[in-house]
Amino acid sequence: MEFIVYEQKGAYAVITISREKALNALNSAVLEELDKTIDAVDLQTVRCLIVTGAGAKSFVAGADIGEMSTLSKAEGEAFGKKGNDVFRKLETLPIPVIAAVNGFALGGGCELSMSCDIRICSDNAVFGQPEVGLGITPGFGGTQRLARLVGPGMAKQMIYTARNIKADEAYRIGLVNGVYPQEELLPAAEKMAAGIAKNAPIAVRNCKRAINNGLDVDMDEALIIEEKLFGNCFETEDQKYGMAFFLDKNKEKVKEPFKNC
Ligand code: CAA
Repeated sequence: MEFIVYEQKGAYAVITISREKALNALNSAVLEELDKTIDAVDLQTVRCLIVTGAGAKSFVAGADIGEMSTLSKAEGEAFGKKGNDVFRKLETLPIPVIAAVNGFALGGGCELSMSCDIRICSDNAVFGQPEVGLGITPGFGGTQRLARLVGPGMAKQMIYTARNIKADEAYRIGLVNGVYPQEELLPAAEKMAAGIAKNAPIAVRNCKRAINNGLDVDMDEALIIEEKLFGNCFETEDQKYGMAFFLDKNKEKVKEPFKNC
């Protein structure tokens, strides 16, 4: 891999987009490597994933403008599909994904962060969808996910004006869950990932599926999705162990790690 660093740290793993000379902009090669990296995540042992950018300045400064500048209509559509397919793969990955946004998250960078389950950022982070200033629409899911995350009014304002927002405003509008001093961002993401990884993995995965799938349908159907995934947990060893541990009043007993089965 030239542009992606993948590191498994026990029960969680970190994907770092590493094309620092272009502020980690996403060209086709980066997208292809990201796609392969996601495919290779060992879902038996990795229970949470972190996505971040290399360097202190940028998460991802967007799709590669040089590469896009000469695209035809059909090529533009194909490039959009390439980004959408990779980001959708991340969004629907069975395990939770945390975006640790360490600087510019513009265009495709903001879109990448929005395909993750949770976003936290450093205090120098800048979010935005500057595409209309380049003569294009957001093309890696921005027109869809931003409206779902911050509401259509705010999403439309950000997209139509192409105005970038800083970390504090991203926090205020609910685009990120927390803002950290730069050096504390990755440790905070890792602490969160480790905390998630300690919980019953099948239950966590079922929560992700229930939330994601439930958001796409009406409440009656959504609650049926929840009931099925809730019921599914009762077939697991982890449910039996987790509840037995709670019910056992022996205070000396130490909780064992969940077995993922
Ligand atoms: N594509 C290609 N190269 C990029 C890039 C991008 N999106 N963003 C930054 N770079 C490159 C710059 O061209 C520059 O390269 P050189 O050193 O070879 O000149 C290098 O990264 C450093 O960038 P700057 O010198 O511009 O750094 P800066 O600190 O002055 O500015 C910035 C930083 C404000 C992020 C600025 O680089 C910028 O505005 N970048 C473009 C952001 C953008 O418009 N992103 C959206 C792209 S469109 C998109 O993503 C479509 C979609 O939805 C799929």
